[in-house]
Amino acid sequence: MESKAIRRIGVLTSGGDAPGMNAVIRAVVRTASANNISVLGVRRGYSGLINGDIIEMAARSVDGIIRKGGTMLYTARCPEMMTEEGLQKAADTCKYLGIDGLICCGGDGTFRGAQALSRKGVPCIGVPGTIDNDIVCSDYTIGFDTACNTAVECIDRLRDTMQSHERCSVVEVMGRRAGHLALNVGCAVGATATLLPEREIDFETDVIEKMRMGRIKGRNHHIVIVAEGYGSAQSVADRIHESTGVDTRVTILGHIQRGGSPTSQDRIMATRMGYAAVRALMDGKTNRVIVLEDHRITDLDIEEGLSRKKDLNQDLFEAQQAVAI
Ligand code: F6P
Repeated sequence: MESKAIRRIGVLTSGGDAPGMNAVIRAVVRTASANNISVLGVRRGYSGLINGDIIEMAARSVDGIIRKGGTMLYTARCPEMMTEEGLQKAADTCKYLGIDGLICCGGDGTFRGAQALSRKGVPCIGVPGTIDNDIVCSDYTIGFDTACNTAVECIDRLRDTMQSHERCSVVEVMGRRAGHLALNVGCAVGATATLLPEREIDFETDVIEKMRMGRIKGRNHHIVIVAEGYGSAQSVADRIHESTGVDTRVTILGHIQRGGSPTSQDRIMATRMGYAAVRALMDGKTNRVIVLEDHRITDLDIEEGLSRKKDLNQDLFEAQQAVAI
């Protein structure tokens, strides 16, 4: 069956913002414009659909945003989308505005919304945008590289002062229930220990003993990374202090990890994925998520992205453990 020609699409960003979301919006708007498809920007995620918070976009309205952090369309988490009433309102807005397809950039909550809307007959394509890199079917999510680099830059600064005072810095890194960001950051800063929700550790052997051995071998300060999904950084610091007597300081990097100009990797990935999302709609696809798989951009059923939990990169985990001595 011949698919319906796409004349107008919508684009939204939803959930926690991620550096590179603007670059996705730019790629979507420019790809659509080049194919004579008009674009409506839906502001504040799905609540913009429910409340009709919509702007018209054109190739020139996205000039200069590729280098900007945040999202020009704003973002929000929208519990109303989980109700039948909210979902129906969102679908009705799409119908009323003549939206032939919707591109939704965000994480798993965003994809759940896209899946539900697809089932209501609105063709939806998800683009993975989250600093957590926790979408199982995609090797990469937009924003991860920038967040990783931001955290590394901050922790390198912490190391200077920890070294001067011979302290241990316990740093909480974002990631919600996932430890991908913490693992990569821990590796890149040369942490003594990295505590992750996905891997059980023996605190005495893997943290305390390592620190004691480090001391004997002349290491006078430490960085310990705690993924936010692992537990409280303060309790980790207290435990270290009680067991070793080392002076500890806690830093929660928090939302600073979500800001800043996207790295070239995030700009490029956003451009490739935003382009692919429009192409997917033009090909008549729906309920798909754009993913990076073995260095290739492709698309998969959204269900695949939501059904399982993404495991940590085991090679990276082992390498990081091996060198943290
Ligand atoms: O999903 C992205 C993320 O930054 C998580 O790492 C973090 O747990 C959460 O969002 C924070 O959410 P909020 O911005 O609502 O505080």
